[in-house]
Amino acid sequence: AKNVGILAVDIYFPPTFVQQEALEAHDGASKGKYTIGLGQDCMAFCTEVEDVISMSLTAVTSLLDKYNIDPKQIGRLEVGSETVIDKSKSIKTFLMQIFEKFGNTDIEGVDSTNACYGGTAALFNCVNWVESSSWDGRYGLVVCTDSAVYAEGPARPTGGAAAIAILVGPDAPIAFESKFRGSHMSHAYDFYKPNLASEYPVVDGKLSQTCYLMALDSCYKHFCAKYEKFEGKQFSISDAEYFVFHSPYNKLVQKSFARLVFNDFVRNARSIDETAKEKLAPFSNLSGDESYQNRDLEKVSQQVAKPLYDAKVKPTTLIPKQVGNMYTASLYAAFASLLHSKHTELAGKRVTLFSYGSGLTATMFSLRLHEGQHPFSLSNIASVMNVAGKLKARHELPPEKFVNIMKLMEHRYGAKDFVRSKDCSLLASGTYYLTEVDSLYRRFYAQK
Ligand code: ACO
Repeated sequence: AKNVGILAVDIYFPPTFVQQEALEAHDGASKGKYTIGLGQDCMAFCTEVEDVISMSLTAVTSLLDKYNIDPKQIGRLEVGSETVIDKSKSIKTFLMQIFEKFGNTDIEGVDSTNACYGGTAALFNCVNWVESSSWDGRYGLVVCTDSAVYAEGPARPTGGAAAIAILVGPDAPIAFESKFRGSHMSHAYDFYKPNLASEYPVVDGKLSQTCYLMALDSCYKHFCAKYEKFEGKQFSISDAEYFVFHSPYNKLVQKSFARLVFNDFVRNARSIDETAKEKLAPFSNLSGDESYQNRDLEKVSQQVAKPLYDAKVKPTTLIPKQVGNMYTASLYAAFASLLHSKHTELAGKRVTLFSYGSGLTATMFSLRLHEGQHPFSLSNIASVMNVAGKLKARHELPPEKFVNIMKLMEHRYGAKDFVRSKDCSLLASGTYYLTEVDSLYRRFYAQK
């Protein structure tokens, strides 16, 4: 199979959200901390009728329906998620309800888990499958689904929730340049979920930021080395039109891109002009470790990177800023933002992506875009996703209501024998929702 990659995408996020500005005031944080400091606008969250399974049921049925895909044509289904509902039964098996109805049970794949990286692992599995000798000619389907919730405290405003469904196959408008991949994997305790009785992670915020940036540097180094090996010339940020990052919050994305600019400066790459060189010169002798802690470098490199950030990164930031961290779906929601805002200008362009999952696992990889053919065209993907429409149809809830729902969900996590309130009035028609968890912990869903 040639030009294997992404044929179609659909995204779902809960219609319920809080404004970061309201949350700031409610939490007693200083004005501007969440909006300017973290760079976030709004945060979506699941109310008691939604969870990662209902969101993924919604995303998958919507994708099959809108692109007119016969469920029998799916040969592999992979889920990336770090939201644990069951320690054994995969989310993928819940999604089989959709396919069994059509007599298709011949579908490989299960769930992949490592923090926010599971979606990328799932996507690579599907792409590799289509490129392999075990491919049976059918489509691969990847689902990234997460509800990111934090205990009260500084991490709480970096939550979010969404599910993304991604159809994989040959002759794709969004093709993988599979040779160009750089990974960095290592052992760290920056963010983890050791307490199985709680949905909340244990997080060392500062360490997670440094781990993220170190992983980015390392992946970029490996990515550039692979590019040079196969292309016989140096890679720099000038060689990709857009850069898409896993987005826990927008400020970290700004810092990440500035970090790539600094890397290019240190490598003496062609993307760095004379003025930028002069501004960054005072930092040329910093050791790696020092460079992560140096506030002046952070400031100057963000300043130097600003025009390039506006051109190469800003078009990827809409959904992450409006919805929040979607964990496994975050990177792909950023990519969906790019398709939404630039779909008419993407043909022939290269897009570089950076996936990070705490603990830690990270990969930088590369896509080459083509207009494609209906229904698998960039313009149709943008129109099916209807990002602007979905954002506009949302309902803002006050922080007090958000906090009450978080408290209720703390009780419900791992609980059994309850019937949810049947109020799904805020959900759009076609959305799946949880109706009941019975005395044997079995979960039941219905479609509105
Ligand atoms: N106006 C403008 N900016 C402000 C204000 C204000 N009133 N107050 C603070 N700021 C700025 C700070 O200067 C800082 O920006 P800087 O980093 O550019 O200096 C930013 O707002 C955040 O303020 P901090 O004091 O650093 O925030 P705090 O430590 O309280 O929490 C953190 C931030 C660590 C990101 C926390 O939200 C967290 O732990 N989140 C979860 C972990 C996470 O997302 N890690 C990312 C990778 S791992 C993953 O994806 C889960």
